[in-house]
Amino acid sequence: MEHRALVRLAAPAAAALLALTTACTGTTVQGRPGAAGLRDPYFPKAGNGGYQVDHYALDLDYDPADGLLNATAVITARATQRLSAFNLDLSGLRVGKVTVQGAGARYNRTGNELTVRPAEELREGEVFRTEVEYGGRPGPVTDPDGSEEGWITTGDGAVGVGEPVGSMAWFPGNHHPVDKAAYDITLTVPHGYEAVSNGELRSRTDAGGGRTAFAWHSPEPMASYLATAVVGKYEVTTGRTPSGIAVRNAVAPGEAARSAGPLARLPEVVEWGIGRFGPYPFSTTGAIVLPAGSLGYALETQTRPLFPGAPADEELVVHELAHQWFGDSVSPKSWKDMWLNEGFAVYAEWLWDEDHGRTTAQQRFTAFLAGDTRVDANAGSDWYAFPPADPPTARDISANPVYYRGALVLHRVRQEVGDEKFSALLRDWAAAHRHGNASTADFTAFAEQRTGHDLKKVWDVWLYGTERPR
Ligand code: TRP
Ligand code: ZN
Repeated sequence: MEHRALVRLAAPAAAALLALTTACTGTTVQGRPGAAGLRDPYFPKAGNGGYQVDHYALDLDYDPADGLLNATAVITARATQRLSAFNLDLSGLRVGKVTVQGAGARYNRTGNELTVRPAEELREGEVFRTEVEYGGRPGPVTDPDGSEEGWITTGDGAVGVGEPVGSMAWFPGNHHPVDKAAYDITLTVPHGYEAVSNGELRSRTDAGGGRTAFAWHSPEPMASYLATAVVGKYEVTTGRTPSGIAVRNAVAPGEAARSAGPLARLPEVVEWGIGRFGPYPFSTTGAIVLPAGSLGYALETQTRPLFPGAPADEELVVHELAHQWFGDSVSPKSWKDMWLNEGFAVYAEWLWDEDHGRTTAQQRFTAFLAGDTRVDANAGSDWYAFPPADPPTARDISANPVYYRGALVLHRVRQEVGDEKFSALLRDWAAAHRHGNASTADFTAFAEQRTGHDLKKVWDVWLYGTERPR
């Protein structure tokens, strides 16, 4: 800052500048508001700065008959700077009361940002508790690509889904994958309904007034886009995988017959994943099968993926379970890094088929290059249209190149380093970033360091290149 500019400033501005200057020297006495977004390249307002969440306790009372939600969110977080105010992401709904550390806090709302101004500033490093009473009729969020998430009604019930930014439609939070937290989600619903979420069912109790409370506990870190809440009529079955992981499935009655086959293989898929990718990252597993047609896609909700009707084939089950390692445990640092989720989950499908004596990944690779749809129907798609590490717009983060060209990147790495090093790479990658976040640059550096191969050409042509690879 030039001295000339400083003398022209009006008194209050000069004072602010002084505060800013002292802030830079570390002797500030004034808190600042946390940032309203984490500047994700595709969703710049998603998430918030100035704090990190340790734990969400969500109490959601939902009545499918009128679609009304009455809820409390208790968010335990740690301030990463001295904070005069901070934001939570929340879309729609009405906010009743907000307290921070037990004291009433002022708040205001603009767009999807709920700004909370605690009665007392928060110290850097302080662990603080924010309680938000909120409610109303939650609804869907429409993505740039036209798909819908948020709160979706399913006929006799509803489902809360979050990828990429839908969770803000059903709870206030730091809705960016870099801020993972533990969750306790308690769903209170009228008698006769099931309520299913992530993790372990801790208790199922009579909540009075003809309602049942289902308390779900997720001890491992979870990105908010992987949280789910499902209410409706469901058939619940429990079991264990051969190595002892608790399985809990919830299936819409109309989908039960067609789901039986694919879900019977789920325990085996989990064990296969452990063999291929290393220890299963969570304490529970299972699946939720929604009434057919209620959601436009399957989703890898943590521990318990969602299927929009009976899974069409076992590869889809493999895909969503592979995401538990790649996406859920190792989550993207930004929405630009989606191929680390989808490329890996598709490659897992290819490995599953290969390991079961069907099409090999090499045969798929050849088929994609040739556009041979007899080997893989997706080979005829626009899988090559853009580099997976650089989707052109937010609309493209779930487009074909992220999935298939992303998987082909992995196959190119395998061709360069050989099967043994490649298998170790997948396991080591899952271990290195277990319950954390990673970026494309993290992966390319890790792959080269781990295998001892220079993979620059693979990255240049397949991951970052704009031309159709030949
Ligand atoms: N992750 C889902 C899957 O492949 C698909 C999906 C649903 C998705 N919504 C999205 C991908 C939003 C990216 C962004 O299993
Ligand atoms: Zn996927």
